[in-house]
Amino acid sequence: MLRSLKIIVIMLAVLLLAVAGCGGQQVRDTSSKQNGSQVGSGQQTTGKQKVLVASDVAYAPFEFQDPNSGQYVGFDMDLIKAIAEVNNWDYEIRSMNFDGIVPALQSASVDMAISAITITDKRKEQVNFSLPYYQSGQCVAVKADNNTIKGFEDLSGKKIGVQIATTGADEARKIPGAKITDYNTINEAFMALKNGNIDAVVNDYPVTLYFIQQGNKDVKIVGGLRTSEFYGIAVPKSKPDILEKVNSALKTLKENGKYAEIYKKWFGKEPPDFLPGEPSSN
Ligand code: ARG
Repeated sequence: MLRSLKIIVIMLAVLLLAVAGCGGQQVRDTSSKQNGSQVGSGQQTTGKQKVLVASDVAYAPFEFQDPNSGQYVGFDMDLIKAIAEVNNWDYEIRSMNFDGIVPALQSASVDMAISAITITDKRKEQVNFSLPYYQSGQCVAVKADNNTIKGFEDLSGKKIGVQIATTGADEARKIPGAKITDYNTINEAFMALKNGNIDAVVNDYPVTLYFIQQGNKDVKIVGGLRTSEFYGIAVPKSKPDILEKVNSALKTLKENGKYAEIYKKWFGKEPPDFLPGEPSSN
Protein backbone atom coordinates (compact mmCIF):
# COMPACT_ATOMS: atom_id res chain seq x y z
CA MET A 1 0.00 0.00 0.00
CA LEU A 2 2.61 2.49 1.17
CA ARG A 3 4.98 1.22 -1.47
CA SER A 4 2.60 1.77 -4.36
CA LEU A 5 1.88 5.27 -3.07
CA LYS A 6 5.60 5.95 -3.10
CA ILE A 7 5.86 4.70 -6.68
CA ILE A 8 3.02 6.95 -7.77
CA VAL A 9 4.67 9.97 -6.16
CA ILE A 10 7.95 9.20 -7.90
CA MET A 11 6.20 8.72 -11.24
CA LEU A 12 4.45 12.04 -10.85
CA ALA A 13 7.73 13.77 -10.06
CA VAL A 14 9.37 12.26 -13.14
CA LEU A 15 6.43 13.32 -15.28
CA LEU A 16 6.62 16.86 -13.94
CA LEU A 17 10.32 17.06 -14.74
CA ALA A 18 9.70 15.78 -18.27
CA VAL A 19 6.97 18.34 -18.86
CA ALA A 20 9.23 21.07 -17.56
CA GLY A 21 11.55 20.07 -20.37
CA CYS A 22 14.02 22.47 -21.83
CA GLY A 23 15.17 25.64 -20.19
CA GLY A 24 15.20 29.23 -21.05
CA GLN A 25 12.92 31.56 -22.80
CA GLN A 26 14.37 34.66 -24.25
CA VAL A 27 12.83 38.06 -24.12
CA ARG A 28 14.32 41.37 -25.08
CA ASP A 29 13.48 44.31 -22.94
CA THR A 30 14.28 46.64 -25.80
CA SER A 31 11.20 47.36 -27.85
CA SER A 32 12.99 48.11 -31.09
CA LYS A 33 14.32 44.69 -31.97
CA GLN A 34 11.54 42.25 -31.23
CA ASN A 35 12.21 39.32 -33.45
CA GLY A 36 9.08 37.64 -32.26
CA SER A 37 10.73 34.26 -32.13
CA GLN A 38 11.88 34.14 -28.58
CA VAL A 39 9.04 34.73 -26.21
CA GLY A 40 8.27 31.35 -24.76
CA SER A 41 4.96 30.73 -23.10
CA GLY A 42 3.01 27.93 -21.54
CA GLN A 43 5.81 27.02 -19.19
CA GLN A 44 4.53 29.01 -16.29
CA THR A 45 2.81 26.08 -14.62
CA THR A 46 5.94 24.06 -14.02
CA GLY A 47 6.60 25.55 -10.61
CA LYS A 48 10.26 25.95 -11.48
CA GLN A 49 12.17 28.86 -10.06
CA LYS A 50 12.50 31.51 -12.73
CA VAL A 51 15.69 33.57 -12.90
CA LEU A 52 16.38 36.73 -14.91
CA VAL A 53 19.79 36.90 -16.55
CA ALA A 54 21.21 40.18 -17.86
CA SER A 55 23.51 40.20 -20.88
CA ASP A 56 24.75 42.58 -23.56
CA VAL A 57 23.95 40.16 -26.34
CA ALA A 58 26.32 41.67 -28.90
CA TYR A 59 29.66 40.14 -27.99
CA ALA A 60 30.38 37.15 -30.17
CA PRO A 61 31.35 34.40 -29.60
CA PHE A 62 30.15 34.77 -26.00
CA GLU A 63 26.67 36.16 -26.61
CA PHE A 64 25.08 37.23 -29.88
CA GLN A 65 21.94 36.90 -31.88
CA ASP A 66 21.91 34.20 -34.52
CA PRO A 67 21.12 36.12 -37.71
CA ASN A 68 18.89 33.34 -39.03
CA SER A 69 16.96 32.15 -35.99
CA GLY A 70 17.11 35.36 -33.95
CA GLN A 71 18.04 33.18 -30.95
CA TYR A 72 20.70 34.24 -28.49
CA VAL A 73 23.68 31.95 -28.94
CA GLY A 74 27.29 31.73 -27.85
CA PHE A 75 29.57 30.25 -25.21
CA ASP A 76 27.94 32.19 -22.36
CA MET A 77 24.46 31.33 -23.61
CA ASP A 78 25.28 27.59 -23.66
CA LEU A 79 26.89 27.85 -20.25
CA ILE A 80 23.95 29.60 -18.61
CA LYS A 81 21.56 27.09 -20.18
CA ALA A 82 23.60 24.26 -18.69
CA ILE A 83 23.72 25.98 -15.28
CA ALA A 84 19.94 26.44 -15.38
CA GLU A 85 19.48 22.77 -16.25
CA VAL A 86 21.60 21.64 -13.32
CA ASN A 87 19.58 23.84 -10.96
CA ASN A 88 16.22 23.05 -12.57
CA TRP A 89 15.70 26.76 -13.24
CA ASP A 90 13.62 28.44 -15.85
CA TYR A 91 15.52 31.47 -17.11
CA GLU A 92 15.08 34.47 -19.27
CA ILE A 93 17.81 36.54 -20.92
CA ARG A 94 17.38 40.30 -20.45
CA SER A 95 19.30 42.02 -23.21
CA MET A 96 20.74 45.35 -22.10
CA ASN A 97 23.66 47.66 -22.76
CA PHE A 98 26.85 46.56 -21.04
CA ASP A 99 27.03 49.71 -18.91
CA GLY A 100 23.55 48.93 -17.56
CA ILE A 101 24.43 45.51 -16.22
CA VAL A 102 26.14 46.37 -12.92
CA PRO A 103 23.40 48.92 -12.02
CA ALA A 104 20.75 46.28 -12.79
CA LEU A 105 22.53 43.87 -10.48
CA GLN A 106 22.90 46.48 -7.77
CA SER A 107 19.19 47.19 -7.79
CA ALA A 108 18.59 43.40 -7.96
CA SER A 109 16.23 43.88 -10.90
CA VAL A 110 17.95 40.82 -12.38
CA ASP A 111 19.17 37.68 -10.61
CA MET A 112 22.51 37.43 -12.34
CA ALA A 113 24.46 38.51 -15.41
CA ILE A 114 26.56 36.58 -17.89
CA SER A 115 28.26 38.81 -20.42
CA ALA A 116 31.97 38.02 -20.66
CA ILE A 117 32.29 40.12 -17.50
CA THR A 118 35.83 40.43 -16.17
CA ILE A 119 36.20 39.91 -12.44
CA THR A 120 37.78 43.13 -11.13
CA ASP A 121 38.35 44.48 -7.62
CA LYS A 122 36.28 47.55 -8.44
CA ARG A 123 33.30 45.49 -9.57
CA LYS A 124 33.68 43.20 -6.56
CA GLU A 125 32.70 46.16 -4.41
CA GLN A 126 29.40 46.31 -6.29
CA VAL A 127 28.51 42.70 -7.12
CA ASN A 128 29.55 39.15 -6.30
CA PHE A 129 31.27 36.92 -8.83
CA SER A 130 31.10 33.20 -9.47
CA LEU A 131 34.16 31.04 -9.93
CA PRO A 132 36.16 32.21 -12.95
CA TYR A 133 34.99 30.40 -16.10
CA TYR A 134 37.13 31.87 -18.89
CA GLN A 135 40.60 33.43 -19.21
CA SER A 136 40.93 36.48 -21.44
CA GLY A 137 43.01 39.59 -22.03
CA GLN A 138 43.14 42.91 -23.87
CA CYS A 139 44.48 43.20 -27.40
CA VAL A 140 44.93 45.94 -29.99
CA ALA A 141 43.25 45.78 -33.39
CA VAL A 142 44.08 48.07 -36.32
CA LYS A 143 43.32 48.19 -40.04
CA ALA A 144 45.15 45.41 -41.90
CA ASP A 145 47.08 47.98 -43.96
CA ASN A 146 48.33 49.89 -40.92
CA ASN A 147 52.08 49.34 -40.57
CA THR A 148 52.85 51.91 -37.89
CA ILE A 149 50.90 50.59 -34.90
CA LYS A 150 52.45 47.31 -33.78
CA GLY A 151 50.96 47.02 -30.31
CA PHE A 152 50.00 48.90 -27.15
CA GLU A 153 53.35 50.74 -27.11
CA ASP A 154 52.49 52.57 -30.35
CA LEU A 155 49.12 53.90 -29.20
CA SER A 156 50.19 57.16 -27.53
CA GLY A 157 48.28 60.09 -28.97
CA LYS A 158 46.16 57.82 -31.19
CA LYS A 159 42.39 57.66 -31.59
CA ILE A 160 41.16 54.56 -29.81
CA GLY A 161 37.70 53.04 -29.79
CA VAL A 162 36.40 50.92 -26.91
CA GLN A 163 33.12 49.58 -25.58
CA ILE A 164 31.77 51.74 -22.78
CA ALA A 165 32.33 50.64 -19.18
CA THR A 166 34.63 47.74 -20.11
CA THR A 167 38.08 46.74 -18.96
CA GLY A 168 39.23 47.64 -22.48
CA ALA A 169 38.03 51.20 -21.85
CA ASP A 170 39.99 51.26 -18.56
CA GLU A 171 43.13 49.93 -20.23
CA ALA A 172 42.91 52.40 -23.13
CA ARG A 173 42.66 55.30 -20.68
CA LYS A 174 46.09 54.43 -19.29
CA ILE A 175 47.70 55.24 -22.65
CA PRO A 176 49.31 58.70 -22.60
CA GLY A 177 47.66 61.27 -24.84
CA ALA A 178 45.27 58.80 -26.43
CA LYS A 179 41.86 60.08 -27.52
CA ILE A 180 39.28 57.57 -26.39
CA THR A 181 35.82 57.14 -27.89
CA ASP A 182 33.35 54.99 -25.94
CA TYR A 183 30.85 53.08 -28.08
CA ASN A 184 27.71 51.41 -26.78
CA THR A 185 28.58 48.13 -28.45
CA ILE A 186 31.89 46.68 -29.57
CA ASN A 187 30.58 46.32 -33.11
CA GLU A 188 30.20 50.10 -33.38
CA ALA A 189 33.86 50.43 -32.41
CA PHE A 190 34.84 47.90 -35.08
CA MET A 191 32.79 49.78 -37.69
CA ALA A 192 34.50 53.04 -36.75
CA LEU A 193 37.85 51.30 -37.22
CA LYS A 194 36.89 49.96 -40.63
CA ASN A 195 35.65 53.41 -41.67
CA GLY A 196 38.89 55.03 -40.59
CA ASN A 197 37.29 57.16 -37.86
CA ILE A 198 39.63 55.70 -35.25
CA ASP A 199 43.14 54.18 -35.37
CA ALA A 200 42.67 51.20 -33.07
CA VAL A 201 40.23 49.18 -30.96
CA VAL A 202 41.21 47.90 -27.51
CA ASN A 203 39.06 44.92 -26.62
CA ASP A 204 38.96 41.35 -25.28
CA TYR A 205 41.15 39.15 -27.50
CA PRO A 206 38.74 36.25 -28.20
CA VAL A 207 36.03 38.67 -29.34
CA THR A 208 38.30 40.64 -31.65
CA LEU A 209 39.73 37.41 -33.04
CA TYR A 210 36.25 36.06 -33.74
CA PHE A 211 35.27 39.31 -35.47
CA ILE A 212 38.25 39.01 -37.83
CA GLN A 213 37.57 35.32 -38.44
CA GLN A 214 34.02 36.16 -39.46
CA GLY A 215 35.38 37.64 -42.67
CA ASN A 216 36.68 41.04 -41.58
CA LYS A 217 40.06 40.59 -43.18
CA ASP A 218 40.61 44.35 -43.35
CA VAL A 219 41.27 44.25 -39.58
CA LYS A 220 44.23 42.64 -37.78
CA ILE A 221 45.46 42.11 -34.22
CA VAL A 222 48.89 43.54 -33.41
CA GLY A 223 51.23 42.82 -30.49
CA GLY A 224 50.59 40.71 -27.43
CA LEU A 225 47.95 40.73 -24.75
CA ARG A 226 48.22 43.42 -22.13
CA THR A 227 46.19 41.89 -19.31
CA SER A 228 45.19 38.55 -17.89
CA GLU A 229 41.51 38.64 -17.00
CA PHE A 230 38.97 36.12 -15.85
CA TYR A 231 35.29 36.15 -16.64
CA GLY A 232 32.77 35.44 -13.92
CA ILE A 233 29.01 35.34 -13.65
CA ALA A 234 27.94 38.38 -11.63
CA VAL A 235 25.26 38.13 -8.96
CA PRO A 236 23.63 40.80 -6.76
CA LYS A 237 25.21 40.97 -3.33
CA SER A 238 21.73 40.47 -1.93
CA LYS A 239 21.37 37.02 -3.56
CA PRO A 240 23.97 34.73 -1.97
CA ASP A 241 21.75 31.68 -2.55
CA ILE A 242 21.89 32.25 -6.32
CA LEU A 243 25.67 32.64 -6.21
CA GLU A 244 26.02 29.37 -4.37
CA LYS A 245 23.86 27.54 -6.89
CA VAL A 246 25.76 29.03 -9.83
CA ASN A 247 29.06 27.90 -8.31
CA SER A 248 27.92 24.41 -7.48
CA ALA A 249 26.51 24.05 -11.00
CA LEU A 250 29.84 25.19 -12.47
CA LYS A 251 31.56 22.47 -10.42
CA THR A 252 29.07 19.89 -11.64
CA LEU A 253 29.59 20.94 -15.27
CA LYS A 254 33.34 20.68 -14.82
CA GLU A 255 33.04 17.21 -13.31
CA ASN A 256 30.58 15.81 -15.85
CA GLY A 257 32.47 17.16 -18.86
CA LYS A 258 29.71 19.49 -20.04
CA TYR A 259 31.80 22.63 -19.49
CA ALA A 260 34.62 21.17 -21.61
CA GLU A 261 32.12 20.19 -24.29
CA ILE A 262 30.76 23.75 -24.52
CA TYR A 263 34.29 25.20 -24.48
CA LYS A 264 35.38 22.93 -27.33
CA LYS A 265 32.29 23.78 -29.34
CA TRP A 266 33.13 27.50 -29.32
CA PHE A 267 36.92 27.60 -29.08
CA GLY A 268 37.93 24.35 -30.79
CA LYS A 269 40.17 23.17 -27.98
CA GLU A 270 40.16 21.78 -24.45
CA PRO A 271 39.79 24.35 -21.67
CA PRO A 272 42.69 24.95 -19.28
CA ASP A 273 42.59 22.40 -16.43
CA PHE A 274 41.76 24.89 -13.70
CA LEU A 275 38.59 26.24 -15.35
CA PRO A 276 36.03 26.78 -14.03
CA GLY A 277 37.94 27.77 -10.88
CA GLU A 278 41.00 29.64 -9.74
CA PRO A 279 44.33 29.25 -11.54
CA SER A 280 46.83 27.65 -9.17
CA SER A 281 49.04 30.46 -7.95
CA ASN A 282 52.78 30.05 -7.90
N1 ARG B 1 35.49 41.62 -20.39
C1 ARG B 1 35.26 43.01 -20.57
C2 ARG B 1 34.73 43.62 -19.30
O1 ARG B 1 34.26 42.92 -18.45
C3 ARG B 1 34.29 43.29 -21.69
C4 ARG B 1 32.99 42.63 -21.57
C5 ARG B 1 31.97 43.10 -22.58
N2 ARG B 1 30.88 42.21 -22.64
C6 ARG B 1 29.83 42.35 -23.46
N3 ARG B 1 28.92 41.41 -23.49
N4 ARG B 1 29.74 43.41 -24.21
O2 ARG B 1 34.74 44.81 -19.11
